[in-house]
Amino acid sequence: MTMQGKVAIVTGGGSGIGAECARTLARRGAKVAVADLDGNAAGVVAGEIGGLALAVDVSDPAQCQAMVDRVIGELGDLHMAVNNAGIGGSHLPVEEYDVDDWRRVLSINLDGVFYCMKAELKHMVGQGRGAIVNMASIFAVAGQRALPAYVASKHGVLGLTRAAALDSAPKGVRVNAVGPGVILTPLVESHQDTAGKAALAAGNPSKRLGLPAEVAELVVWLCSDAASFCNGGFYPVDGGFTAA
Ligand SMILES: NC(=O)c1ccc[n+]([C@@H]2O[C@H](COP(=O)([O-])OP(=O)(O)OC[C@H]3O[C@@H](n4cnc5c(N)ncnc54)[C@H](O)[C@@H]3O)[C@@H](O)[C@H]2O)c1
Repeated sequence: MTMQGKVAIVTGGGSGIGAECARTLARRGAKVAVADLDGNAAGVVAGEIGGLALAVDVSDPAQCQAMVDRVIGELGDLHMAVNNAGIGGSHLPVEEYDVDDWRRVLSINLDGVFYCMKAELKHMVGQGRGAIVNMASIFAVAGQRALPAYVASKHGVLGLTRAAALDSAPKGVRVNAVGPGVILTPLVESHQDTAGKAALAAGNPSKRLGLPAEVAELVVWLCSDAASFCNGGFYPVDGGFTAA
């Protein structure tokens, strides 16, 4: 599965799952642009893998277009994109959920994926090839208590993925979504103490939480030519959680 000569963008590439996707793509030979709201974090990961660091807020459509333009300008092309940047938001039921928090989660997790894909697809469709992987969640196909904005945003990411795939498939571009279960990253560490993580692990059929590398392997495979007939799909990587 060599990706020599291929160019990839990973949003939210400065931490957690995105950082591991960037490292895995680079190990397979791809030139990787690491885009993150936290430009320093992007710089650290890009430095590690010899990639291009970009400070980007995916909730701003102009920054998403500028990101794609810069990658094509500096790395020469764009073959693969992992739209991964996302946040958790507050843990509250709908009636207590702050309207501004709702908008912030949707603007990053869902609008951000749309803005990135809009810019990425313009180039990929023009080239008649490309592969996009959007970071959804198990909560793209299941509800969760006290997480309305996150759950709604991830259901939206899956719907957007399917819609985009139908338009893009005849044009040679593949668009898929992955659905990680609970993965040990800074996002989860910031919301869960040791007891919380143990309870989440106990509720998983595999009796543990996932690791970023276990998500990255799937993402990178979906980006690769090995996945040439996979389009519009939803791929859980959750230790069996959604099988229940
Ligand atoms: N960790 C999990 O259990 C889990 C499970 C399912 C899905 N996911 C999804 O995976 C993705 C990555 O999550 P993670 O756990 O690695 O989180 P993380 O917090 O470790 O990393 C997320 C990265 O996104 C960046 N980011 C946040 N807002 C941004 C913005 N507006 N523009 C650009 N970058 C921004 C952050 O700076 C951070 O570097 C998210 O979309 C998340 O919803 C995570």
